Amino acid sequence: MYDYQARTESETSFSKGDQMELLDDSHADWWLVRMRDGREGYVPYNFVARMDTMESQDWFFGKITRKDAERLLKFPESPLGSFLIRESETEPGTYVLCVHDKDASRGDCVKHYKIRRLDNGGCYITSKTAFTNHTELIRHYQVKEEGLCRKLTIPCPKPKPVMQDLSVETKDLWEIPRETLQLQTLLGSGQFGEVYKGTWKGTTDVAIKTLKQGSMSVAHFLQEAQIMKMLRHDKLVRLYAVCTKEEPIFIVTELMANGSLLDYLRNDKFKQITIPHLIDMASQIASGMAYLESKNFIHRDLAARNILVGENNIVKVADFGLARILDNEEYNPKGARFPIKWTAPEAALRQKFSVKSDVWSFGILLYELMTRGRIPYPGMDNKTVLEQVERGFRMDKPTNTPDGVYTKMLECWHEKPDLRPTFEHLFIYFDDYFISVEPNYREAD
Ligand SMILES: Nc1ncnc2c1ncn2[C@@H]1O[C@H](COP(=O)(O)OP(=O)(O)O)[C@@H](O)[C@H]1O
Ligand SMILES: [Mg+2]
Repeated sequence: MYDYQARTESETSFSKGDQMELLDDSHADWWLVRMRDGREGYVPYNFVARMDTMESQDWFFGKITRKDAERLLKFPESPLGSFLIRESETEPGTYVLCVHDKDASRGDCVKHYKIRRLDNGGCYITSKTAFTNHTELIRHYQVKEEGLCRKLTIPCPKPKPVMQDLSVETKDLWEIPRETLQLQTLLGSGQFGEVYKGTWKGTTDVAIKTLKQGSMSVAHFLQEAQIMKMLRHDKLVRLYAVCTKEEPIFIVTELMANGSLLDYLRNDKFKQITIPHLIDMASQIASGMAYLESKNFIHRDLAARNILVGENNIVKVADFGLARILDNEEYNPKGARFPIKWTAPEAALRQKFSVKSDVWSFGILLYELMTRGRIPYPGMDNKTVLEQVERGFRMDKPTNTPDGVYTKMLECWHEKPDLRPTFEHLFIYFDDYFISVEPNYREAD
């Protein structure tokens, strides 16, 4: 389905369109295959598909959300008429044709057509014209528009999947030798150390986070990192490997092309990031957080600085759980670096961190999104914020914030943790925002 360059000797390189024989699929992420020329090796499972299945078609995107489909179809590389078929989330087994369109009332938009099924296995969009399968349906609408918004052109360009590991060899052994990493450019520095762009074995781009010496015990770090490694979701920055044999400890993660959301928002001087785009980011963040919530995992430091921006408007949650490992002297509510303004009062005052204190922080993150990166509680110092918030003070609605977004901010800041919404709810709310909350929303020209 995609080109793949082997990263270690146990793997096999291949090009898009190559055929191979599957020898062993007992590992979930790495399949052993034999190529036509006899080469054998492991390949990442999400780069290949079984032949003659829907998964092997360029236009089939599987179970992606309506929002993800829209995001992909609106990339600059996706011309008008580009399309994909996805499986409906709400009705599994039902497929939807999504088409990139532009019309007078909605401007650049995506249309969704439910594909209905016939008892004999066929399918149709309008009952007038039925087809034996999806391929036939697509061929037909590539020639005639016939009731669709426009003729189909090319399948939506598919971004390469994110690898689950650095390579088949680091799948279980994720303590890697330090020499296999080359640190290249400094991306930024945070409270606990520096972050570099670099490569692993010269083949794979990664981000390398270096932790200040003596900031934690290695045993404690490994214990937590083990849990972080098991958390997998497409809205979480992937943790690939660690180097803990010497200090400074390195944490190797997925590299995100556009850096932190905070910088990204602040650089948007001309407000080119629109409200729908901001809401889309809120929905993606809530989706990653809903996954953590389902695992009962507390982030503890949710803020725009810990959200990273990739290509194509994708955002992912980073640094989950790190705050807990790094409980050094300064990282407590009395320390100078503790993010008081993001922390729920019960957590700041009584150390009661929970998924619900993360929800509070999400409300602050919504404020950062809507103000394009302002520091919350402008003009107030930490001590005042702590006192005022405890007395019931909440920030006003920032300029140009839709009411529906401010309502959720206030719900996230409910003084009773149990009465704050769940991330699951917040995800659904923001994902469907322009369908359920503001169906008549129009972007100003
Ligand atoms: N995986 C990554 N990909 C790209 N840039 C990153 C990545 N991780 C961190 N960065 C950059 O490094 C900076 C410092 O990160 P970090 O040490 O987490 O500090 P902080 O969260 O306090 O800003 C971030 O602001 C971001 O610009
Ligand atoms: Mg960070």
